[in-house]
Amino acid sequence: MLEQKILNIKSEFLGEIENVSDLDVLNDIRVKYLGRKSELGEALKGLKDLSVDEKKKIGPLANEVKNEIASKIDALEKNIKSQASLLKDRIDVTIPGKKKEVGHLHLITQIQSELIDIFSSMGFDVTDGVEIETEEYNFDKLNIPENHPARDAWDTFWIKGKDGERKALRPHTSPMQIHYMESHKPPFRVIAPGKCFRNEATDASHDHTFYQFEALVVGDDVNVGHFKNIAQQFFSMFFKKDVDVRIRPSFFPFTEPSFEFDISCTVCDGKGCSTCGRTGWIEIGGAGMVNQAVFEAAGYEKGRYQGFAWGFGIERIAMMRHKIDDIRLFHGGDLRFIKQF
Ligand code: DAH
Repeated sequence: MLEQKILNIKSEFLGEIENVSDLDVLNDIRVKYLGRKSELGEALKGLKDLSVDEKKKIGPLANEVKNEIASKIDALEKNIKSQASLLKDRIDVTIPGKKKEVGHLHLITQIQSELIDIFSSMGFDVTDGVEIETEEYNFDKLNIPENHPARDAWDTFWIKGKDGERKALRPHTSPMQIHYMESHKPPFRVIAPGKCFRNEATDASHDHTFYQFEALVVGDDVNVGHFKNIAQQFFSMFFKKDVDVRIRPSFFPFTEPSFEFDISCTVCDGKGCSTCGRTGWIEIGGAGMVNQAVFEAAGYEKGRYQGFAWGFGIERIAMMRHKIDDIRLFHGGDLRFIKQF
């Protein structure tokens, strides 16, 4: 009797557990078959009234069925749970993709690459210096001795080097001239674009951090005509139209003679407009014939070579090309500005 009852419970259980895929339902089944008030529990209570022989037979059977029920429930529970987590991690390959935002090169970097391309095509080498430069290369070797009033023209961020040496965030790219000449023998032509720093109040045309573009051409008979011609070719390529270059006398300690140079206004083509203050010309940068004292400082024999150099601000020509009216926008970090280019 009891034996049959136990076997019935088992087959009832097996029927009921089939197709269960829900944890709550499974839990109900667990209570129903293994709980304190379960049929099986009740049946087991009846064991004590049986004879010793019957106890020996039915006791193990009852335990076996109980264990079987328990392990089937546990296994199914595990199964349901792992199915659920698989579903949770499921990837729906039919959902349309999300577009990832990809960064792009900053306008100044783009223009810098363009300048390098143009000058490489004209046979120029490309170099760069260091942003933290010694006093010697920033000034002394460029013929700007300590206490010389010309130094004031470069509003310098001074820093103390590790060994107490006076260093500076370079205020111009000209130190590259010395570095390059110390390791190269003329004739050569080389450019160096790079980041510069000035300790000065900022306004729409001055920022504390900006980029310069330095060029240096040295040989036996390099002259101002070469400068003018190369500059003219370059600016015409850059602005994709005929650009004229003019020079005006000026002073830089590292050039003799020195000049500043202008290009014909690219907005009005030299006719005169508000961009060029009706003059038809736009100031671009400084240039000159390399001072023999600078050649000497770089280890060349005085009087042996001639060369020209120039330096101008990269932001400046970017502003002209894209009609940007405030230099501070370049490094101000406003993405609305940066994303336009
Ligand atoms: N280094 C100068 C400056 O930052 C610009 C300059 C002028 C560079 C004349 C030159 C040059 O190479 O010949 O103001």
